[in-house]
Amino acid sequence: MKFFIDTADLDEIREANAMGVLDGVTTNPTHVSKEEGTFEDIILRICEIVDGPVSAEVVGTEWQVMVEEARHISSIHEHVVVKIPITPDGLKAIKACSEEGIRTNVTLCFSPNQALLAAKAGASYISPFLGRLDDIGHVGMDLVRTIQKIYGNYGFHTQVLAASLRSPLHVVEAALAGADVATLPPDVLKKLLTHPLTNAGLERFLNDWNAWKEKQEEGVMV
Ligand code: G3P
Repeated sequence: MKFFIDTADLDEIREANAMGVLDGVTTNPTHVSKEEGTFEDIILRICEIVDGPVSAEVVGTEWQVMVEEARHISSIHEHVVVKIPITPDGLKAIKACSEEGIRTNVTLCFSPNQALLAAKAGASYISPFLGRLDDIGHVGMDLVRTIQKIYGNYGFHTQVLAASLRSPLHVVEAALAGADVATLPPDVLKKLLTHPLTNAGLERFLNDWNAWKEKQEEGVMV
């Protein structure tokens, strides 16, 4: 399973990249709107930090505009994957991008049929938004399981990118469901590594070790 980080914050991205397990980055207009600088500069700087796909989203709503944006965004750096929402115009733009060899990450996916259409149009990634489905009383992870089954039935190569993940349990469930990628908010990425029993266990090992060494130095032990 690949891990992407879901932010446009350069410090967070550098910190995550330093962990050595980061495979890519996803941004969206909300993330970018929190940063300083031009859109192009922010995306370029992210691409220079992480050696992997960096999703950057179009903001046009008509398909011809989306395709123009996609051409521009994909020219920023070879790592860029263009994020396109799964609307009727978005679908046409995904198809046009696919035919031009522009990689796409299809975003705001909330149903299996949207995912099926995105794959038929040649999407590189599909991003089901699990947390937002949970927010309205659905089981978001069911969508990942269903998409995986449908893509498997027909041999689609579109990668399933579990998005809008809110907790470490979401990551476990996405992995069990066979998601190709999980994109994680920075705080969730950090939480994956921490466990109180690991900390307590290490503290005890080190205390015991240090007490033993002290006794040895005092000549108590032979
Ligand atoms: O990757 C999708 C993500 O940006 C949306 O997450 O938490 O705003 O639903 P969230």
